Amino acid sequence: MRTRVAVIGSGPSGLLVGQLLTRAGIDNVVLDRASKDYILGRVRAGVLEEGTVRLMDEAKSGARMHAEGLPHDGFSLAFDGRDHRIDLFGLTGGKRVTIYGQTELTHDLMDQREKAGALSIYEAANVTPCDFEGHAPPYVTYEKDGVTHRIDCDFIAGCDGFHGVSRKSIPEKAIRTFEKIYPFGWLGILADVPPVSHELVYANHPRGFALCSMRSMSRSRYYIQCSLDEQIDEWTDQRFWDELRRRLPAHHAERMVTGPSFEKSIAPLRSFVAEPMRFNRLFLVGDAAHIVPPTGAKGLNLAASDVHYLFEALLEYYQDRSNAGLDSYSAKALARVWKAVRFSWWMTTMMHRFPDTSDFDQKIQEAELDYLTHSRAAATALAENYVGLPF
Ligand code: FAD
Ligand code: DHB
Repeated sequence: MRTRVAVIGSGPSGLLVGQLLTRAGIDNVVLDRASKDYILGRVRAGVLEEGTVRLMDEAKSGARMHAEGLPHDGFSLAFDGRDHRIDLFGLTGGKRVTIYGQTELTHDLMDQREKAGALSIYEAANVTPCDFEGHAPPYVTYEKDGVTHRIDCDFIAGCDGFHGVSRKSIPEKAIRTFEKIYPFGWLGILADVPPVSHELVYANHPRGFALCSMRSMSRSRYYIQCSLDEQIDEWTDQRFWDELRRRLPAHHAERMVTGPSFEKSIAPLRSFVAEPMRFNRLFLVGDAAHIVPPTGAKGLNLAASDVHYLFEALLEYYQDRSNAGLDSYSAKALARVWKAVRFSWWMTTMMHRFPDTSDFDQKIQEAELDYLTHSRAAATALAENYVGLPF
């Protein structure tokens, strides 16, 4: 089989780049080792920046997102028993975020891909990017039902997440990585109960961080900071609700509606960046190249900005026969990635309790929160990053 772009990974990055290419008439094949149902069962991000919304529209996949997504003009930072609203809309001159689950976005992109008749191969085993370093055209091999297949292509988009094969295929001496592991995780649940507030609440509490998010006005997504050795089976719904209540200001805790959860999982927190993001004909996109802790809601949105830079570069290559965009892909993407890495690290540091916090560290955290909620300049910097830096 031959295609122009072989896309490894059918998460948001792979599907979005695939859909944009298909719409531009650039032939591509998406390969994933997982099944479609498995991918759609993964509960992850929920906050879309305007740039991500714009890209979904460009991919002609935004109709349901506009109909069902919830526009949010602000969120609350809760500490000292009070809410401190961050007015995203007012501070950024009219920008907002959209609450729409990653699962829904993935669903919409898969539907559009099917409608367009573009090829996706699920449950592809041993996907291997080959010969991407030299001048000869690269190819990808994979196994399906015991048979080995080969896809010849011009370029490979490595959209296969943090644990994927693309980054691991790059020779160690050609790649530099930067990593920070945080000494805690997030325990998250989904439940069909109305959210505690109509906007998100990020709570800093002596017992640890908590986040009240949502998927709709009848479905809530809640997270609490937990230690890394926590066992999920030891967290009954009752225990989760009790702990969440303790970490929220009283007016939220009293109003909170509880009910059975239908998803519960623990995610570790990590910052990671691989540089560069291009190895001749192989491009790393999204989580394959970088991971951020979820506090700033940046993971999925960073994947979208990578997709934007790569799609523009490929378009330039196929329409104008110019390599300029491809040559600047890594530098452009990384400039934005590092700012989001910084923001996510800063939000994480400001909102969580670290096991080894000294009295000095604690006072600095309190001063930071006080400054943020009393200085328009400081709040504006937070709002500008939260709604997403331009791309
Ligand atoms: P992924 O979504 O990881 O997609 C990669 C795809 O590649 C997958 O479908 C996978 O099956 C496939 N793949 C992997 N290896 C191979 C292989 N060898 N061969 C073929 N296919 C392969 N972000 C937020 O903003 N907020 C959150 O609350 C949040 N929570 C998260 C919770 C968890 C547990 C995780 C892992 C991430 C979370 N994120 C969150 C981050 C966000 O979900 C990611 O940034 C986003 O999914 C990145 O999209 P992606 O397409 O680059 O990678
Ligand atoms: C959600 C996740 C986040 O990491 C975040 O900062 C906000 C919302 C969510 O899953 O809804």
